Amino acid sequence: MTNSAASPARYYLTTPIYYVNARPHLGHAYSTIVCDAIARRKRALGIDTWFLTGTDEHGQKIERSAELAGRTPAEFATAISAEFRGLWDRLDLSYDDFIRTTEERHKRGVQKLFATLRDKGFIYKGSYTGQYCVSDEAYVDGPPGTVCPDCGRVTETVSEENYFFKLSAFERKLLEFYEANPGFMGPESTRREVISFVRGGLKDLSVSRTSFSWGIPVPGDEKHVIYVWLDALANYITALGYGSDDPAEQARFAKFWPADMHLIGKEISRFHCVYWPAFLMAAGIALPRSVKANGWLLFDQGKMSKSRGNIVRADTIQQVLGADALRYFLLREIPFGQDGSFSFDALVQRYNGDLANGYGNLVSRVVNMVHKYFGGVVPEIGADTAAETALRETAVRTIAAFGPAFDEMNFSEALKGLWLLVAETDGYLTANAPWKKPADRSDADHTLLQARVLATAAESIRIITALVYPILPESAAKVWRQLGQGEIADAAKKSFLTDIAWGGLKAGTQFGEPAPLFPRAEKDAIERMQNIEDQNSKTVIEAAGGTAEAAAKAAAAQTAAPVAAAVSEKAAAPKAPAATVAVTAPTSVAAVAPAAAPAQGAPAQPSAPPQVAEEPQHISIDDFVKVDLRVAQILVAERIPKADKLLRLEVDLGYEKRQILAGIAQFYEPEKLVGRKIVIVANLAPRKMRGLESNGMLLAASLPDGAPVLAGFLEEVPLGARLK
Ligand code: MSP
Repeated sequence: MTNSAASPARYYLTTPIYYVNARPHLGHAYSTIVCDAIARRKRALGIDTWFLTGTDEHGQKIERSAELAGRTPAEFATAISAEFRGLWDRLDLSYDDFIRTTEERHKRGVQKLFATLRDKGFIYKGSYTGQYCVSDEAYVDGPPGTVCPDCGRVTETVSEENYFFKLSAFERKLLEFYEANPGFMGPESTRREVISFVRGGLKDLSVSRTSFSWGIPVPGDEKHVIYVWLDALANYITALGYGSDDPAEQARFAKFWPADMHLIGKEISRFHCVYWPAFLMAAGIALPRSVKANGWLLFDQGKMSKSRGNIVRADTIQQVLGADALRYFLLREIPFGQDGSFSFDALVQRYNGDLANGYGNLVSRVVNMVHKYFGGVVPEIGADTAAETALRETAVRTIAAFGPAFDEMNFSEALKGLWLLVAETDGYLTANAPWKKPADRSDADHTLLQARVLATAAESIRIITALVYPILPESAAKVWRQLGQGEIADAAKKSFLTDIAWGGLKAGTQFGEPAPLFPRAEKDAIERMQNIEDQNSKTVIEAAGGTAEAAAKAAAAQTAAPVAAAVSEKAAAPKAPAATVAVTAPTSVAAVAPAAAPAQGAPAQPSAPPQVAEEPQHISIDDFVKVDLRVAQILVAERIPKADKLLRLEVDLGYEKRQILAGIAQFYEPEKLVGRKIVIVANLAPRKMRGLESNGMLLAASLPDGAPVLAGFLEEVPLGARLK
């Protein structure tokens, strides 16, 4: 079975649908922004595009979160789904449809798919006893107590009568399909991982649950609800109209299916590249043309996620720097497919360097000079000199390279190339200095030079703006108006990217008024963003009723603001004092880190031996989950010259390796530490010591004389497992 060749006339792309147990953060925004940029470019190329996003609302995880928040699953899901949709609208993401898996149209389609699979003999009844990870909604092999290999949480034992899907029948068919369609999965790491998973053997998959009810009932056997991943994956077809009797919806399904691309996070590639194609093969439905996995957005060393407590919200960045700054950063900074670190520093640096001082400054110089010297009307360009020819040639090369790089999802490369044109245009302007008339140049010659240089630079800006429009839609719209080109959205509707070529800016064009694009971010921008984030996490605690108990409840439920606010309305007045936010050191366990001044903004590090508090100070779960404790193995341990207390360690967390400096050199021989499994605080802000960066801290008991004894385990534990 092959997936048919891509049709240029229409393009269907999808984001993953987001679980409604947690409020949206930058990690979610990342996938959706990437899809938005692609959708905008496709439309501007005249391709009939359908861009789907939505929320994944069923399953045990959502049911439990709702219960903890004291809401019904339906109310809870509605509130958080609205958070996602509201954010996508505030970010002006151009989705064509937003599906909620609790909608009737979806339920109808999922039940049809299930019935089709059963009618075709691919679903049978059996019973399942085994491990289940509620957080990932995934079955896990292993004995009770097994840790989920994906998220590190301990699995639960389920023993139920279930319907099973004959996944084992698709092992060979899937491998043949991957071979016949080498472009189906990407990047290469995902492709390799999926193929080796399938080669490892496929077992039949349980596709219903009976121990809870928050899901879509199995048609004809309503005590079962359909497995949440079968339910969720089907959104890609139900949203188009699969399962509908409405001819218009059926026509949409016929037109847009199969999808050209499912964009997903790398951790859900097994579901999209193994289960989903197998379900579709079994049902006799065409397979998607491609599944492309983005890497993780990391913050403070770990995957950004609510459970790690290391999230940043897109709203924060939008409020301070604008949505385009975020879009540019994500697409320029992170090579697509790889993990990428987010930091406010890096964001502001990119913003100031590339947008404020780069593109923004270039536009402002040229537009202002056209107003100043030519009354805002584009002058006749005149005859080219070598300088104009060189710039034009660079622009032509840039146009030729940008599209293929973007379409291959090498956004970072595409932007890097485009910014070379920004820099070259800037350099051209500076070298020809149209604002400066040398004494030996006649007025007439100077006007000719000004005309040539400004018209050429403006044309270059027009090209840059057209190409960058899918990535910076808001700013490109402003520049387009300033260049007298009207509304860029209208140009996009007229497929302006199909024939973008040098020479489109006509003499006599009246420029619009100059308007600021990217005001320089001042020193306080980072602080302002951090304050908004801090304020936001406090709001959740206070809105939850102000008590540690209520905060813990809200935190455990990972509530979004509307839900938390609703909890607050219910909370009895008067309010108890807000839950303490500072994490206090436990009395029996010390964190072993080099004694150094805490990084700015980081909580003070407890030092060994720990202070025993007079009165026990309670912390909320919300506080505790902020500390990401993980199992790591020491790979390298060595002394650091001229630092008699410090050891340099390289540790393996399973999902990554890192360097930690620990103040244990007087108590441990480095050679004896290699291979040892330890516990580390994985989300501590990095600190530099003696020119080396330390990324984390070891946990140890502190003896009365201050000697540390490293924490460890008696049983076998996988690397990266979380302590909680
Ligand atoms: N509901 C499932 C997907 C079902 S698709 C049929 C799910 N939801 S999720 O909310 O947990 O994650 C959705 C997507 O959010 C991930 O696949 C990923 O694309 C994105 N991300 C969430 N956190 C992320 C980062 N820190 N970094 C990058 N993307 C991540 O899985």
